[in-house]
Amino acid sequence: MSTPHCLQHLFLSTSSRAPGQVGNTEWLARRAADTLPAGSTQTWHHLAHMDLPPFIDQRHTTGSYQPPVGDMRTLLDATLAAEHIVFVSPVYWYSIPSPLKTYLDHWSAWMRVPGLAFKEPMGAKTLSLITTSGDRARAQPMIDSLILCAKFLGMRWGGALWGQGGPPGAVQADARAVAEANDFFQAAARSTDALRP
Ligand SMILES: Cc1cc2nc3c(=O)[nH]c(=O)nc-3n(C[C@H](O)[C@H](O)[C@H](O)COP(=O)(O)O)c2cc1C
Repeated sequence: MSTPHCLQHLFLSTSSRAPGQVGNTEWLARRAADTLPAGSTQTWHHLAHMDLPPFIDQRHTTGSYQPPVGDMRTLLDATLAAEHIVFVSPVYWYSIPSPLKTYLDHWSAWMRVPGLAFKEPMGAKTLSLITTSGDRARAQPMIDSLILCAKFLGMRWGGALWGQGGPPGAVQADARAVAEANDFFQAAARSTDALRP
C-alpha cells in the first residue's frame, strides 16, 4: 500500500475571513494535513493577511522584473522550497479569491526575474486544491482553471478535494468530504507511484 512520501508541503490559505476565524476550507485542509507522515514538513501562509503588491505586466516594457521583496519574497522562497503546493481556497464567484489570484499573477513575474530559475523547478512540483463552496458544480470552473495553470508550468496535478461550505463549521457535517480529507494525500501518493516506471 502507498503512503504519502515525506515531502515539503506549502499550504496557501486564501479565505478572506477575519484573522483568527478558521473557515471551512482551512478546517478541511488541516484534517488532510493531519494525515501527512512524520517527517513531512508543512508551511502555512494566509494570503489575505499578507502584503501582496498588485502585479504589473512588464512583459512588453522592461521585459523583466526585480527580485520580489517583503511578503512576496517570503512566498517566492516558500514556493521554491515546496515539493507539493496546496491551494486552500474557497470558491469566490466561481473562481479563486483575489489574494490567490494576485499571488498566481506574480508567477508571471517570477518567470522573468534575471538569474532566477522558476519555471523549470516548478515543473518538478505537485499542485493540489482543497476547496469549499455552496455547491460542488459551481466549483468546477475554478478547478478546471487551476488544472490548466498546473499544466502550463508542467506541474503534476495532485487532485481537488471539495467540501460543502457555508458558515464556519459547516463542512464538518459533510461526511464524504471529511472521509476524503483523511485519504487525500495518500491518494495523491498513489497516483505519483502510478507514474513511476
Ligand atoms: C465573495 C464570496 C463569493 C462567493 N462565491 C461563491 C460562488 O461563486 N459559488 C458558491 O457555491 N459559493 C460561493 N461563496 C460561498 C463560499 O464559497 C463558502 O461559504 C465557503 O465555504 C467559504 O469558505 P471559508 O469558510 O473557508 O471561508 C462565496 C463566498 C464569498 C464570501
